[in-house]
Amino acid sequence: MTKVIALAGKGGTGKTTTSALLVKYLLNRGKTPVLAVDADANANLNELLDLSVDVTLGEIRKDLKGDIPQGMSRDQYMEMKIHQSLIEETGFDLMVMGQPDGPGCYCAANQYLAMTMDKLAENYQYIIVDNEAGMEHLSRMNLRAIDYLLIVSDPSARGIMTARRIADITKPLQLEVEKQYLIVNRAPDPVSPVLQEKIDEAVQNADMNLAGIISASDDLIDQELSGNSYLQLADNTKVIQQAYAIFDTIFSQ
Ligand SMILES: Nc1ncnc2c1ncn2[C@@H]1O[C@H](COP(=O)(O)OP(=O)(O)O)[C@@H](O)[C@H]1O
Ligand SMILES: [Mg+2]
Repeated sequence: MTKVIALAGKGGTGKTTTSALLVKYLLNRGKTPVLAVDADANANLNELLDLSVDVTLGEIRKDLKGDIPQGMSRDQYMEMKIHQSLIEETGFDLMVMGQPDGPGCYCAANQYLAMTMDKLAENYQYIIVDNEAGMEHLSRMNLRAIDYLLIVSDPSARGIMTARRIADITKPLQLEVEKQYLIVNRAPDPVSPVLQEKIDEAVQNADMNLAGIISASDDLIDQELSGNSYLQLADNTKVIQQAYAIFDTIFSQ
């Protein structure tokens, strides 16, 4: 059974960072194959994984409006294009959604996408969806049931309350969420007792499960600056250890 993991949270909190660390974790634990979906219009998960993107699904949708090769139906053509757009790596594939529909959406394309996703999903053990703050792409892709919703927040009480509100936007989208966890990211290292108390209190008020805290990490910043893949971060790096401990907690339950 394919498990769907969706990332949510305010812009800049660390959703894409967490997605990249999660790809690394699942590969490390042999929980493969993985499909990583970059569902942010300003896609940059590929950069953290040091992969270049030829074509996004947004671009494919535009193609579909024009002529299609003879002897092919539009849904066959869409399916072929979607498969072509996958970036295939060892243990995981990356799919990039790109820009959403402008005005005058070609909605049939979304139906083809939803149909293809249903079939495609079966090929993977885990699907990670790196969302922008809104999560409309999930329903567009027909991913209505989320097994794990991971909400990323900065280490402040206000940030955590915002995370709570973001988690609630799954309701009007009629997404079924099985399990929901909060990850507090970019915390000072070490977390002072006062800050820890504030985080615990905010987590309790927000009625969320805290999966763990990731420190602000120079290793991540250096890796991003150097352009090397996050997959190449050494397993003994503190941030990797923290991320692995968090994911072990989440995926062992
Ligand atoms: N734990 C961390 N330590 C240091 N920098 C971080 C950490 N998490 C994220 N960042 C940095 O913060 C910025 C925003 O992170 P990103 O993952 O792109 O956020 P989002 O996807 O939620 O918008 C990036 O430049 C990233 O490198
Ligand atoms: Mg992002």
